[in-house]
Amino acid sequence: MRVITTTDFQQTLQYPKVRDMLAGFTKWNAVALPLMGTMSAPYISIQHALADAMRGRAGKTVLDYGCGTGSITAMLIKDNHSDIRRVIAVDSDSATLQEVEPTLNKIGFHGQLELINSSSMVPLPLNAEEVDTMVSGLGAIIYSGFHLNSVGPLEGRAALAECLKDCNRVLKPGGYLGFSSLVPNPNFREIKRQSILSLLKGLRFKSLIVAIRNASKIEKASQFMKEFATAGWAHYLAEQQWQEVLQGCGFTVVEFRRGSYAGQGLVVIAQKTSSFQ
Ligand SMILES: C[S@@+](CC[C@H](N)C(=O)[O-])C[C@H]1O[C@@H](n2cnc3c(N)ncnc32)[C@H](O)[C@@H]1O
Repeated sequence: MRVITTTDFQQTLQYPKVRDMLAGFTKWNAVALPLMGTMSAPYISIQHALADAMRGRAGKTVLDYGCGTGSITAMLIKDNHSDIRRVIAVDSDSATLQEVEPTLNKIGFHGQLELINSSSMVPLPLNAEEVDTMVSGLGAIIYSGFHLNSVGPLEGRAALAECLKDCNRVLKPGGYLGFSSLVPNPNFREIKRQSILSLLKGLRFKSLIVAIRNASKIEKASQFMKEFATAGWAHYLAEQQWQEVLQGCGFTVVEFRRGSYAGQGLVVIAQKTSSFQ
C-alpha cells in the first residue's frame, strides 16, 4: 500500500539526534515489538487500557500517532464497536507501517486507510480540524523529543508543546486525544518480571523459552529509550505535568488511568477545549 511521506520529515533525518532516536525505534520495532505485542501481558494491558479509556470517544476519523503495527486502532475498532470510517496511521518507521493494513484486515475493517511516514517532530501533513480522534499508544506523543521549525530545533518539553499544538490544530473542536505514557522513572525490571511471571502462570512454556532467548536482545534494543528519557527527549511525566502542558496547548485532561504496564503505565485522555492559535 502507498505510503505518504513529507520533505519536512526527510529533512529532519539530517539532524543526527533525531536520526538516532528514530533509528532506535526502527530497530526496537523489528526486535521487540512482535514479542511485546504478543507475549508481554503488561504491554498488552496498557494497549487495552488505552482502547478501553477511548470507549465511546472515537469519532469517524482516527489518527494513530506512532501506530506500530496498528494494534491500538484495531482494538479501538473492535472494542468500541464504533463507527470508524477513516484511519490515518502515522509512524516514523516505514517498515512497521506495512503491517497496519493486514492488522486492520484481520478485524474486518473496510474503511479508508492512509499511511503516513512521518514523525511528531514536524507538523502533520493534514488540514486543520481534519481528524475526530487521535490515539498514541506509547508512541509519537511521548517521543516527540525534538521539533524542527524555522526558529531552529527545539528540544525536550518545548518540542512536546509544539507537537501537542499541532495535534490541537488537526483535531476537531471537542475531539479526544488519548495516549499512553510511562510514569516518571519507570521501573523497567518490574515490567520484565511481570511479563515472565504471566507466561509462567499461564503455563505458556514455549513463549517463555522464546522470551528468555530474546530477553537480552530486547533489553539491548530498549536501552536507547532509557538514555533518551534521561536526556529529556522522552516525556515520562507526572499527572500534574501532563495537565499543565496539555492545558497550555488547548486541551483539558478528562481522565487519567493508572496501573497498567506492571504499574509503570499512565493513560491520559484529553479533549480539545480551545483552539490553539
Ligand atoms: C512502543 S511502539 C508502540 C506501537 C503501538 N502504538 C503499540 O501500542 O503497540 C512506539 C511506536 O512509535 C513510533 N515512534 C516513536 N517515536 C515517534 C515519533 N516521534 N514520531 C512518529 N512515530 C514515532 C515507533 O516507530 C513505534 O512504532
